[in-house]
Amino acid sequence: MIFEERRFDINGKELVLKAPGEEDAEMLRQYIKKACGETRFLMAESDEMDLSLEEEIEFLNSHRDSDGGMLIIGFLDGEHVGNCSFMRVSGSRRYAHRASVGIALLQKFTGQGIGKVMFEVLLEEIEKAGFEQAELIVIEHNDRAMHMYESFGFKETGRKPNANRYDDGTYADDILMVKSFK
Ligand SMILES: CC(C)(COP(=O)(O)OP(=O)(O)OC[C@H]1O[C@@H](n2cnc3c(N)ncnc32)[C@H](O)[C@@H]1OP(=O)(O)O)[C@@H](O)C(=O)NCCC(=O)NCCS
Repeated sequence: MIFEERRFDINGKELVLKAPGEEDAEMLRQYIKKACGETRFLMAESDEMDLSLEEEIEFLNSHRDSDGGMLIIGFLDGEHVGNCSFMRVSGSRRYAHRASVGIALLQKFTGQGIGKVMFEVLLEEIEKAGFEQAELIVIEHNDRAMHMYESFGFKETGRKPNANRYDDGTYADDILMVKSFK
């Protein structure tokens, strides 16, 4: 699914949300490596994020061409701030009502209200696409993200203990959260 561009004001700066094109693929490769290196709250270590340019383009196209997925990228006064996305949990009829969601901003752009704008838009698109619920995983101690998700109606529904093992030998739980649109 292709997101139709929208513009917002963030403290006097222009936030443009749009669907990525193939011309954004190299930038997005660099972004995911950087974002994963900046926080312990994303799904992998930075050095594991090594998609080739072709694989990145395939990833972008898979969201664009799918009828159950969407990728939105944000620019603040022309600078890439981060992405958010959703994808149908699975193709089976039993799971077809569920969208899995994700969002990650570069640290430089956190704490300015951008995440809330992007997440609100993402949820609108999910509801418009006919999903009945949105689901996500947040790593424990990510209080800012949890606060934001709760403010949009997500509820904690379970935990996977020690789901994350870091290179330094420490662990963190995955917290499962669900928002129902019904
Ligand atoms: C999580 C994320 C998307 C939030 O976006 P953001 O633009 O930084 O968040 P905002 O500035 O809009 O703030 C969101 C809310 O969290 C609150 N908040 C900020 N820091 C907080 C903290 N440490 N504890 C609790 N709440 C906090 C803000 O006050 C705001 O709530 P309010 O509207 O009720 O005042 C963004 O910080 C991010 O991408 N972080 C790095 C990657 C990540 O963790 N992704 C999520 C993986 S599950």
